[in-house]
Parts: sequence; C-alpha cells; structure tokens
Amino acid sequence: MAAATGNWSALTPMPSMDDSEFERWADLLEKRTGVIVPVTRKAFLVTSVRGRMRETGHTRFEDYFRDLQKVPEGAIEWTTLVDRLTVHETHFFRHPPSFDLIAKDWLPRVAGNGNAAAQTALHAWSVGCSSGEEAYTLAMVLDRHLSAIPAGKVYFGVTATDVSLPALAVGRAGLYPRQRIEEIPAEYRQRYCEALDEDSFRIGETLRKRVGFAQFNLLDAARAPLKRLDLIFCQNVLIYFARDRRRELLATFANLLKPGGLLVLGAGEVTNFAHANLRRVDHRQVLAFVRNT
Ligand SMILES: C[S@@+](CC[C@H](N)C(=O)[O-])C[C@H]1O[C@@H](n2cnc3c(N)ncnc32)[C@H](O)[C@@H]1O
Repeated sequence: MAAATGNWSALTPMPSMDDSEFERWADLLEKRTGVIVPVTRKAFLVTSVRGRMRETGHTRFEDYFRDLQKVPEGAIEWTTLVDRLTVHETHFFRHPPSFDLIAKDWLPRVAGNGNAAAQTALHAWSVGCSSGEEAYTLAMVLDRHLSAIPAGKVYFGVTATDVSLPALAVGRAGLYPRQRIEEIPAEYRQRYCEALDEDSFRIGETLRKRVGFAQFNLLDAARAPLKRLDLIFCQNVLIYFARDRRRELLATFANLLKPGGLLVLGAGEVTNFAHANLRRVDHRQVLAFVRNT
C-alpha cells in the first residue's frame, strides 16, 4: 500500500470516474458485502473512494483497486474502505413502534408471569448494528421490561454485529455525543445513561455488559455462529441488498430463530415475503414475523 503523502496528495487533482470504473467499484462492494450502490449514488461512492485515496497517497483508481487485491495489505485497507462505502446512520429508539411491540406484546408472551413455558434466558441479535444505538435500545427495553416481571429472573444478552470495525468500536465504548441522549425516553435515560461531561454520555456498565459486539459479514449469515435465537432485529440494512439476497437472508434468519422467536424488520423493507415457518405479526406499523415451529 502506498504511504500517505501529506499535503502533496491533498493538492493533487483526483481523477473523475467514468461509468465502467464506477461499475467496477460497485461490483467489488456488492461481491464483498452484498450492498448495492445504484448509479444515483455514484457521487457518494466516488467521494468515499477518492477520500480514502487521498489518505493513502493514491492518484489513480486502478492503482488503488489493484492494491486492494493484495494479500494481506489489501484486506487490511478494505476494513477501512468498507466503512466509508456503507451508510451508518442510526439512532436510539429509531422506530418506537417496533420496540413497543417487543416490550408490550412479544415479551409478556415469551417471558410473562404465569406462562408455564416462560423462558429463563433470551438471546437477541442486532443485525447491522452500526455504532450500537439499536443494540443498546434493545438491551434497555429487554432489561426494563424483564425486570418488571415479578416471578423469576430472566437473563438476556444482545449480540450486535456489523461489517464496519470503526462503527463497532464506537458501540463497544458505549460513548455518545451528549445531544444524542435526547433520542432516549426519560425513563430509560435515567436508568441506563451516565453523563460524562458537557459533550458526552455513556451507556451504564451493567447494560454494556449485556451487549457483545462482533464483526460479521452478512454474506456469511448461513454460517453464523448463532442459533436458536429469541429475537432477530434487522432494520435499515436489507434495503441496501438485492431482492434475491434479501430473501436468502430472511430464510436464514428464519432458521436461526427458535420456535416463538421474533424477527423484526424495517417497515416496508420487504414486500410479498412469506416463509413456511414464519407467521406475520398483525401490526399496522411494524414488519415482524414469529417463528411457528
Ligand atoms: C444504516 S445502518 C443501520 C443501523 C441500524 N440497524 C439502524 O437501523 O439504525 C446499516 C449498517 O449495515 C451495515 N452493513 C452493511 N452491509 C453489511 C454486511 N454485509 N454485513 C454486516 N453489516 C453490514 C453497515 O456497516 C451499517 O452499519
């Protein structure tokens, strides 16, 4: 990999990207992550690749592309580039009706008081967790509502995975800019967040310990080291994938759930989907399925 060359590379004009060059980069991203960049998002891809080329001292797309194929340096560089080429926007409590469904409808059924088949441990997966807000939201909701069930203690853990190492590092630290705390309803804020200084707050240690972050590429989902999950939460990820790939992933999610397990997707992210082992939850605002057998 070429060394960064400071001011010189910042001043060097960057090449423009013609359509066949764009296809080459878009193909690379799709082959390695499943993420599709439509031509309408070409500017985003070009800016991201060029930005990284500046930092690594490359002036030609083909040189940078060739270096990315090198073993092992190319693989190391890819871990940085993939972070730039993927969208990481996320929020705490991003889609409140989905978390309400988990808290008020699903949880009482699988862990409710008086339920003979009630579980004593729950394992959730936040798929494409970005910087962790979704995973911590799940942990807050599970902790708050499970602790309200009087009989018996129900343990839970959340596995949070993403392809982006920088995003996972933020999640692992559990440290966020102060203004983001506004996304968290007051009752949860008081219980699970600690103000650090004027600029930041941190997720409390007890909750952080419930969430494990790991790098995992969804293209390997069929070989996921997870099984018999109670809850799979996958929002704002499948939209970046091709239709066939989405369906393959959904079938894999269905296999990874245990009977009674819940799959929550982003509303409108998948249409006309049916699976023999999944029953659609009847809800106007939430796209969710329960595994029946
Ligand atoms: C827009 S964020 C969604 C974050 C969160 N789920 C939410 O709804 O707020 C999409 C995330 O999917 C991740 N992602 C994209 N392709 C992936 C893949 N093949 N494997 C794992 N994660 C992937 C990206 O790195 C990004 O962090």
